[in-house]
Amino acid sequence: MSGGPAAAVGEIDDFHDLGDDVEAFRADVLRGLSQPQKQLPCKYFYDERGSRLFDRICELDAYYPTRTEMRILEDCCNEIAALTAGGASLVEFGSGASRKVRLLLDRLDRPNAYIPIDISREHLLAAARTLAADYPTLVVLPICADYTGSLALPDWAMSDARLGFFPGSTIGNFEPRAARAFLRGAAGILGDGASLVIGVDLKKDLRILHEAYNDPLGVTADFNLNLLRRINAELGGNVDIASFAHDARYNDDLGRIEMHLVSERAQTVDIAGQRFTFRAGETIHTENSYKYDLDQFRALANDAGWSHDRVWCDEDRLFSVHYLSTAT
Ligand code: AVI
Repeated sequence: MSGGPAAAVGEIDDFHDLGDDVEAFRADVLRGLSQPQKQLPCKYFYDERGSRLFDRICELDAYYPTRTEMRILEDCCNEIAALTAGGASLVEFGSGASRKVRLLLDRLDRPNAYIPIDISREHLLAAARTLAADYPTLVVLPICADYTGSLALPDWAMSDARLGFFPGSTIGNFEPRAARAFLRGAAGILGDGASLVIGVDLKKDLRILHEAYNDPLGVTADFNLNLLRRINAELGGNVDIASFAHDARYNDDLGRIEMHLVSERAQTVDIAGQRFTFRAGETIHTENSYKYDLDQFRALANDAGWSHDRVWCDEDRLFSVHYLSTAT
């Protein structure tokens, strides 16, 4: 164990802020809405309100991934602990509420540090503080960053064993090429001899998928529409949010759920000094959520330089958790 920065017991130990600013948001929105198929990057869902809405989605009956993955993790975390060296630093990509990681922290042999990386600054800090209070001897170092970009772990973490954690099938929100790039990047960030526990949603009955992404309580709709709220609040937009509707549909050819915001009438909107025209029924494509089968994901991981050591699934084969490792 090599320690880390010193802090009062139960407080976060340091904070690295490499988060996006409003300029990046403006540039991405203006670029995305200028495409023939209008689109917005899904990473902008996660401002404070969006992160809270996502936490609510995870508790919905209709949204099976969270509880299914939790159950798989509960069943396999002892095996994960046995596969992982003692004194490890646990690095979570897109840590959100930092809930699932507790299952691992409770089972790993003397974990040294928890390094949550997330784009949503306030949410990250709140979750990191709560976790630091609950695990007083653990070094907790939150990093506010887009984890698909380049970032370096502190030297002290690189001399510990390293276990990456990427739950929730967030990998599904990447295009296959970007998913490969993420896996390569994670191998680079975590370094030689590291391991990665990753949750991956599986292909399944379309009715289950449809219900999960068009939940009857409308929380997913609110989450999707929150992007328009952000545009109004942060970029001085005049979008009439009530004139847009949430729509999630499965694209069978590409094996993915697509989320869209549908303009219910012809209209123009002004954002950051630019005008955008919508036809009635025209959509803004806001998210893809790819679903894999086990062989497909194994091939992707191998292609990105990881060896595929183990996989665990629930009995209905809704969701999978994989244990990957890099060469030493
Ligand atoms: C974060 N991500 C894995 C979620 C998903 O299922 O693709 C985001 C989400 N979108 C709608 N509901 C949940």
